[in-house]
Amino acid sequence: AKATRDELNKLVHTADPIARKAFDIELKAFFQLHARYLAEKENKRELDWSRIGSPSDEQIRRYSDLADAADPKALAKLAVLKVNGGLGTSMGMSGAKSALEVKDGLTFLDLIVQQVEHLNATNRVDVPLILMTSFNTHEDTLRIIKKYASRQIRITTFNQSRYPRIWKETLQPCPRHAGDDNKHWYPPGHGDLYNALVHTGVLNQLLNSGKEYLFVSNSDNLGAVVDQKILQHMIDSNAEFLMEVTDKTKGDVKGGTLIDYDGKMRLLEIAQVPSEHVDDFKSVRKFKIFNTNNLWINLKALKRIMDNGGMDLDIIVNPKVTDDGQSVIQASQTFLETAAGAAIKDFQNAHGINVPRSRFLPVKSCSDLLLIKSDIYSLQHGQLLMNDNRMFGTVPVIKLGDHFKKIQNFQSRFKKIPTIIDLDHLTVSGDVHFGKDVVLRGTVIVVANEGQRIDIPDGCVLENRLLSGNLNM
Ligand code: UTP
Repeated sequence: AKATRDELNKLVHTADPIARKAFDIELKAFFQLHARYLAEKENKRELDWSRIGSPSDEQIRRYSDLADAADPKALAKLAVLKVNGGLGTSMGMSGAKSALEVKDGLTFLDLIVQQVEHLNATNRVDVPLILMTSFNTHEDTLRIIKKYASRQIRITTFNQSRYPRIWKETLQPCPRHAGDDNKHWYPPGHGDLYNALVHTGVLNQLLNSGKEYLFVSNSDNLGAVVDQKILQHMIDSNAEFLMEVTDKTKGDVKGGTLIDYDGKMRLLEIAQVPSEHVDDFKSVRKFKIFNTNNLWINLKALKRIMDNGGMDLDIIVNPKVTDDGQSVIQASQTFLETAAGAAIKDFQNAHGINVPRSRFLPVKSCSDLLLIKSDIYSLQHGQLLMNDNRMFGTVPVIKLGDHFKKIQNFQSRFKKIPTIIDLDHLTVSGDVHFGKDVVLRGTVIVVANEGQRIDIPDGCVLENRLLSGNLNM
């Protein structure tokens, strides 16, 4: 660890004098995280599974039990923040996912701006929008928000930390100097939010301008709009921190869950679960809900905690996969990340709110993207509305295979997004291409075997069909 610190100190001196102080603070925070990781590894500090309990009704309230009346004046003390520093590697992206066109030619960022503008217009308030970017997403983000410069809405951005990747064997940093290539650095997860808010001065700016509450959510979650009932509940219950959770379905195996650990609320992520309990973790029986990452934070409380030495968020060793599919961890670099929701343990009266699924509409994969782009949803003030003609109010289950995994492949394989209003289930595997004006209904399965290609022609209607093999339609 000492060798790592010496190398990091050397790295600091490669920064130009103006940037050196901020860089030094950043690397010190990184060093602390890394040293804590090594110490925990040494002590084999693992969660004691037998001490984990299901949260009580007090610890997770039902959204439907919240009071309906909300004082609109509370909005004057609110700011909205989107964490927007992630790369979207699972979708093969190298820039900001939020710069991707989602619907009607609008990007995630455009839709977020519309949502906040609508909130402000209907309530005659001026809730600011803050975007946390990273060195990977900053430019994309600025390019998109530039066009809103002359509009009413106040948008500010700040950059989260940039941490050096570390060689696992030698514990040496990968970058040789402060300006070294982007590939030698990483953004350390959205848990970096708290340090970044302090180090950039944004926390103080917010407090100085009379803001007391911060609504944080992922920039790829189009369901995360400001909810005044939740804000009011936060005020009424004196909660310094609220986490929106929602009921887990079979498909939701990844998200963290809230647990009771020795009477305290904790966020449990799959990466923290001992391997023999992973099935337990994924099951819907024991862990019924998961974290949507819609978080409500009392800013004065945050300031108090940060002034008192900050918080030790659980470290997540991210098994990031590189473009060539090789695990970076195995490829001998360490990525230490933290999650924003893990801060729940540090706040007073913190609890979960079990919200409707409509507040969690993320795009984690190209299958999610197909659904959101489709006629299942329409847009209203930047919000997704489910089409009235959709039976039963559920969305189709879509499973696109590996050929559709990367965004470029997804885009080239659909000439146009098919009509799926009457679709229940779609599975596509292999080299499949969709023409224009295709309609999919019921259960449709298309499987092109190895070395084969299936082209769904323009105007084709597929209803309860299984297509496989080499097809000449
Ligand atoms: P995800 O955990 O879904 O990760 O981020 P990701 O980085 O976007 O996607 P993959 O895993 O590379 O495919 C949830 C939210 O947290 C933000 C993302 O921008 C997204 O809004 N995020 C993630 C950050 O702000 N900083 C980070 O370091 C990581």
